[in-house]
Amino acid sequence: MYDSIVTGAAGFIGSTLAERLLADGERVLGIDSFDPYYPAQLKRRNLARALENSRYAFREADLVAFRLDRCLDRNTRIYHFAGQPGVRGSWGPQFGQYVTNNILATQALLERVVRAGHPTRLVYASSSSVYGQQPRGAMGEEVLPNPISPYGMTKLAAEHLMRSYAGAHELPLVALRFFTVYGPRQRPDMAFHRFFRWASTGAPIEILGTGRQLRDFTYVDDIVEGMHRAAVTDRAVGIYNLGRGAPVPLMTAVGHIRRITGTKSPIQRFDRPKGDPDVTWADTRRATKDFGYAPRVDIEEGLRRQWSWQQELLRPRSR
Ligand SMILES: NC(=O)c1ccc[n+]([C@@H]2O[C@H](COP(=O)([O-])OP(=O)(O)OC[C@H]3O[C@@H](n4cnc5c(N)ncnc54)[C@H](O)[C@@H]3O)[C@@H](O)[C@H]2O)c1
Repeated sequence: MYDSIVTGAAGFIGSTLAERLLADGERVLGIDSFDPYYPAQLKRRNLARALENSRYAFREADLVAFRLDRCLDRNTRIYHFAGQPGVRGSWGPQFGQYVTNNILATQALLERVVRAGHPTRLVYASSSSVYGQQPRGAMGEEVLPNPISPYGMTKLAAEHLMRSYAGAHELPLVALRFFTVYGPRQRPDMAFHRFFRWASTGAPIEILGTGRQLRDFTYVDDIVEGMHRAAVTDRAVGIYNLGRGAPVPLMTAVGHIRRITGTKSPIQRFDRPKGDPDVTWADTRRATKDFGYAPRVDIEEGLRRQWSWQQELLRPRSR
């Protein structure tokens, strides 16, 4: 049996966490459906290193149907990343995908946990998008969620499902609200990935809005470390923010990217998309107190690391 199960294991954050668990000597099962939101080729690349490890098993499967209860024993921990990300895509005809992968898949997973009959620790990758538009300042977990996008609504619905199952079946469930994650393997639809791609060719860097919107960008290794600590610390129960706690204006990050890459790319401004709040800013004191969460990587260093990964990705031979 497995020490840990990682859902969404071929994705950006899930694949990074799976490698971290393997490095700790765990036996890990990864599950991913290769949802077509972005190319399977990138997801296979994310998986490659973990697949070399004999303690890693991988199943291509959709969580909605997968009999996960057969893979659980008393001490297995579940890291639940599988989901449909992206705020902009959640408007319009793709909404069904958000309902399926964020709500139905989470409900199916919870049912499997109940069926297995163990007090499984399940740690869920929720999102700062549940907060929506809030006054400028750090957001604590007690703030009333106010999602302003269909994506945020589905992530909040999944949190509520977790609460219902935790209450009804006395399960130790944790939801961690991630604040804009970046670093190696970042999804190709995310801002920094696009900015680096444009910067590498001298194409215009497209900014949505004024660029003054504050974002609490959080480096992927800090998220992975926080998620792991939350999973192995019994006193961690309920909802926690995982952010850097030090937001910067979007244009500051773009300035770093221009310096790091040495690009001459001009800036082009477009309207801010619907569902994009003015500020995201995590108050992380609860996570620090309950499981010692302490993000370490600042934005400049984190962007350098993402750039060195992305240069490798952009090299024609390695694609
Ligand atoms: N990246 C961020 O900044 C961020 C911020 C907040 C929350 N999150 C959440 O963290 C999680 C991981 O995000 P990511 O950026 O790594 O995304 P990702 O798209 O790279 O990874 C998600 C993975 O889940 C898989 N998946 C989707 N539906 C599935 C299903 N029904 N069954 C099995 N696998 C399925 C996809 O194929 C994909 O590989 C998501 O739930 C996302 O909502 C991410």
